[in-house]
Amino acid sequence: MKGVIARCLGQLVIENFGQEKWDAILDGAGFDKSAKFLPISDIDDKKIFELIGSTCKVLKISQQQAFDAFGEYWSAVYAPKNYGAYYASAKNAKDFILKMDSVHVATTKNMPNAHPPRFNFKWDNDKTLVVTYLSQRGLIDLLVSLTKGVGKYYKEELSVSRLDATRMKIVFSY
Ligand code: HEM
Repeated sequence: MKGVIARCLGQLVIENFGQEKWDAILDGAGFDKSAKFLPISDIDDKKIFELIGSTCKVLKISQQQAFDAFGEYWSAVYAPKNYGAYYASAKNAKDFILKMDSVHVATTKNMPNAHPPRFNFKWDNDKTLVVTYLSQRGLIDLLVSLTKGVGKYYKEELSVSRLDATRMKIVFSY
């Protein structure tokens, strides 16, 4: 996975829990404490999963809590700061989420070895969207957390739930 994911996790941990905790997390996942992650660098998916595992261990939180914290930080803090144009061109969470397939294709187009997740959208009714997640990584729970983070960013009440390993349901209030 691209280094941007590890970089964002590092910022979240350092801002909220301090440098020492991040050093311990890096250490626990077998990275050097001085490891810096460049956004387009390549990190083995296995090492990303180790970083997540080490984060849970060091901070004494569950994987779901880690995903929720990461999802909110990525969607409401990190991505708005670093990829602001995508937010500026979407007036609400619905608009933004519907762009996610093309945004992942566009942002990873010039990144060698990127395997972005892809998304299909199907409306169940005018407020209920079913998103099919296409990725080998099996991170549907993270997808739910990231989507809740989009709701936080747009200050909307979104009801987001996992349907199965490849599908989630979003109910918008409008
Ligand atoms: C402008 C905002 C966003 C940008 C620029 C962005 C970009 C990226 C990039 C570069 C990766 C790594 C891909 C790779 O290493 O091959 C990634 C992974 C991922 N993104 Fe986003 N993303 C954004 C927002 C979101 C949102 C809002 C969601 C959910 C609704 C989401 C869902 C995911 C998931 C689940 C992954 C993990 C990889 C996988 O499951 O295969 N992203 N994203």
